[in-house]
Amino acid sequence: MTLRNQPSILSRRRAIQLASAAGVLTPLGAGMAQLTTPARAKAKPQSSVTPLSLRIQQARYTIADQPTDGLISTRPDAPPPVVRIAQGQPFAARVTNTLTDYTAMHWHGIRLDNTMDGVPYLTQFPIGQDESYDYHFTPMDAGTYWYHPHCMTMNQMAMGLTGVLVVEEAEDPGFDADIALNLRDFRLRSNGEWLKLWTARGAARSGTFGTVVTANWENDPVYEAPTGGLIRLRLAATDTARIYKPYVVGASGHIIAADGHPLREAVGWPTEDAPALLSPGQRLDIAVQMPTVEGAYVDIKTAFPGGPRRLARVRATGASQYRSLTELAPLPANDVPEPDLKNARMEDLVFGWTPEGGAQQNGYCGSLGYTFWSINRKPWPGDAADPDTPGAGPLAVLNRGESVILRLRNESPNAHPIHLHGLVFRPIRSNKRTLPSNWTDTALLLKDEIIEVALVADSPGDWAFHCHVIEHQKTGLAGYVRVLA
Ligand code: C2O
Ligand code: CU
Ligand code: CU
Repeated sequence: MTLRNQPSILSRRRAIQLASAAGVLTPLGAGMAQLTTPARAKAKPQSSVTPLSLRIQQARYTIADQPTDGLISTRPDAPPPVVRIAQGQPFAARVTNTLTDYTAMHWHGIRLDNTMDGVPYLTQFPIGQDESYDYHFTPMDAGTYWYHPHCMTMNQMAMGLTGVLVVEEAEDPGFDADIALNLRDFRLRSNGEWLKLWTARGAARSGTFGTVVTANWENDPVYEAPTGGLIRLRLAATDTARIYKPYVVGASGHIIAADGHPLREAVGWPTEDAPALLSPGQRLDIAVQMPTVEGAYVDIKTAFPGGPRRLARVRATGASQYRSLTELAPLPANDVPEPDLKNARMEDLVFGWTPEGGAQQNGYCGSLGYTFWSINRKPWPGDAADPDTPGAGPLAVLNRGESVILRLRNESPNAHPIHLHGLVFRPIRSNKRTLPSNWTDTALLLKDEIIEVALVADSPGDWAFHCHVIEHQKTGLAGYVRVLA
C-alpha cells in the first residue's frame, strides 16, 4: 500500500496544507498526484536535536505467564519505553512504521504546534509501511503525559502501543525515586491468544474490557524504592476503556498533579472507600512517603468489579532515608493563560447516542463498521473524512486568544472521558460534584453530568476533540475544534 490513493478523500486546500506542514513546498498549481508524492512522510528534521527513534513493530513479550504474540510496541520484546524529556528543551522523535497498517503518533496532553499533533488528515498524512514521520516540539508544561497512535487506534492501542511521556520540571522537585505505571488491559485468553479486541455490544455501552490487568505490561509487578524515601508515582490510564479507581495502601502521601498539571487545591488521600477516579487518557501524580522499615511494601490498588485488584507494589530497600513529605515544595504551576470568565463565550457540546446509525467511512485509519455515538447529535463520519466537507466540519470555531467556556453535557448513561488536543482547560462547575480546578486535557463526564470548562484558545489549528473510550471515539464520538490563526 502507498499513500498515492489517499488525496481523493482530501480537499485540495487540505492536501496543500498537509504537504507544506511536512516541510514540502508545493507549487500552488500542482495537481493532486504531484502533491502527494513529496508529502510521503519524509519530513526533514526541523530541529538540531538528535531524534529519538521509535520503530512501531510487532513485539513478543510474556504477559501473565503467557508469551504473547502480536503485541505492538516500539521495541521487539518490551513495552513502549517511558520517554523522559525536559521542560523547555527541544525534543524530536522519528516515528518509523514497520507494520502493514497505517499509523500516526499523538503526544497526549502536550501543547504543541498543530502540525506535530499526529492526527491523520487534520494535521498530517498517515504514516505508511516503511515510512517515517519526524515530530519535534519543545514542551512548555512539565508533568505526566503519554503517547499513542491516532490512526488504526483501536487495534494498535489494544495490542500495546501506549507509552508514558514524562516532562521533567526545570527544577528537580526532590524525590528519591520516580516510578511510572502505564495502566492498561489486554484481551487475552489464558493461553496467551487474543480475544476479539472490541465488541459491538461494548462499543455501544461502556467499552469492551480487558481480561488481563497490567501495569507496564506486567501483572502486579514489584518495584523498589529507598526505605523512608519520598517517591513520585505517575499513574497513566492508557487503557482503551477501563476507568480505574486507584488508591495506595501502606504509606502516607498526597496527590500532587492530575493530567500533567499540579493541583491548585488539596484533594483527599484516596482510600479503598474513597478511591480516585482515573479514566482513559488521564494521569495522576502521587507523592508517597515510603515506610521506614526495610522490606515493607506499598500497594497500588484499584477498586474493581468483584473486589479490589493490586496493580503494582513498591518494596522499601536499603537503610532508611527518614525523609518527610513536609520537605516537598508544591510543584511549580505550568504557565497557562487564565480565561476571562466574565467575557467568555459559551459553546455547547452534547454527547450522546446517535440518531443516525449506519457504518463509518472506511479509510486508511480503520473503522469499526458501526456508528453509535455523536457530538451535538452528529456522528463523526470517520478518520478518513476530509475535515472541510459538510458533516465533518469543526464543532466550534474559536478566535485566537479568546476565552471560551465549553459546556459539556452527557445525555447518555455511560461515562465519557472527553479529551481536547492542543489546549488545556479547567473545570469551573459540574451539576453533580465538586471538581478540582487544575488544568487538564481530559474531563470525565459521568452519567447525566454537565461540566463547564474554561480555556483560552491561544493556539491556532484544528484540534481533535473526542471521547477517550476508543470504541466510542471510533463509532462517532469524535470531532475537532478549530482555532483560527
Ligand atoms: Cu489521547 Cu486524541 O488522544
Ligand atoms: Cu490527545
Ligand atoms: Cu465515550
